[in-house]
Amino acid sequence: MKRLLGIALLMGSAFVGVSALQAADSNYPAWAYGVPPAGTPAAPPARDDGKMLSLPGADKQFTFNQIRGRKDNDTPARVAPADWFPGDHPSMPKIVAEGDDSRGIVACSLCHYPNGKGRSENASPAGLPKEYIVRQLQNMKNDQRASAERRKANTQAMVTFAKSMTDQEIEQAAAYFATLKWTSWVKVVETDTVPKTRSQGGLFLPLEGAQAGTEPIGARVIEVPEKPNDTETLRNPRSGFIAYVPKGATEKGKQLVTTGGNGKTIACTVCHGDDLHGLGSVPGIAARSPSYIARQLYDFQQGARHGDMADLMKKVAANLTNDDMVNITAYLASLPAPATVAYTSTANR
Ligand code: HEC
Ligand code: HEC
Repeated sequence: MKRLLGIALLMGSAFVGVSALQAADSNYPAWAYGVPPAGTPAAPPARDDGKMLSLPGADKQFTFNQIRGRKDNDTPARVAPADWFPGDHPSMPKIVAEGDDSRGIVACSLCHYPNGKGRSENASPAGLPKEYIVRQLQNMKNDQRASAERRKANTQAMVTFAKSMTDQEIEQAAAYFATLKWTSWVKVVETDTVPKTRSQGGLFLPLEGAQAGTEPIGARVIEVPEKPNDTETLRNPRSGFIAYVPKGATEKGKQLVTTGGNGKTIACTVCHGDDLHGLGSVPGIAARSPSYIARQLYDFQQGARHGDMADLMKKVAANLTNDDMVNITAYLASLPAPATVAYTSTANR
């Protein structure tokens, strides 16, 4: 093993070494990170053809680049991304709505959406305790939080944004996301077979045309957008996800989550609350993306997330196998969200 790592380093890429080690680690939930297999050709960069795109219920139309906050096809400059439904959320702090191009901070609303619901390949800051969000951004600043998977480029990018944020911006962004209610976003389906998918930057999309088909689910959770075109092309912040999980996973997960499974782990309810919607500054973990949750469990296990509060998760994650992560995250995702109605306006929140 040592020799392999040495060769990888000689080849000039620490990545190869780390990935090779993880590939050999049977706990590694590859399905949660969605790193495309080696040799997958990069998709050609999509270009804006000037066409105005629309969504049912939205007053405004946007082009492909406007949706992504890209100034044009050829410069990397960033502007505020589209806000399809301004009535769905309170007014955003500047850093959330626009980011700051001069400091390389991309608008939080691009990846996490203006409503903070986020996507399976990033995270869902909506409805988390403010103190918890501040702690995460500070941990990223202080090199206490990264991804155990070095090839997960968007998490590494997230860390650079946190490093460039001022303490005031951290407070503002945390206060904003903490105000938003967490509502149902992931639908769990127990199944033996799943659509064949490809990973695009960690987001799984069903294959189309001649490549479309199904395959056995195996020991994986496969999370796909409910409406792939809405999520991928339009970045519709009202369009959620489907999580395909193996048959029986939710029941097995329930045992681990509520009892700790005879000493395998510690019952999550002890610290995350009976309903798993969070307790004090401990975040809610119910009804959230199973891929995201599994990445965190593995990141805690590997020590990529550490620090005073994060270390409470160390023992919890220490003995979890890939199967355990499948079962735990399937059960957690199947639970009800704290609120079932979507945010409509500041007045009746
Ligand atoms: C390029 C996409 C992208 C942008 C832009 C972005 N993030 Fe993130 N964010 C991520 C990813 C990816 C993760 C971590 C996912 C993982 O490690 O599994 C993350 C994680 C987080 C978390 C941790 C959530 C949790 O549950 O612990 C917070 C908080 C957060 N981001 C806040 C922000 C804020 C504030 C901004 C704007 C300054 C921002 N993000 C901009 C991609 C992004
Ligand atoms: C001893 C207390 C304790 C127990 C038991 C516990 N947790 Fe946690 N958990 C925490 C704390 C504290 C944090 C916040 C860490 C931080 O602030 O960095 C956390 C954070 C997390 C996160 C990160 C959430 C996010 O948004 O990034 C996940 C996922 C998680 N726990 C899952 C679980 C699961 C699953 C179980 C049960 C198998 C569990 N926890 C049991 C204390 C606990």
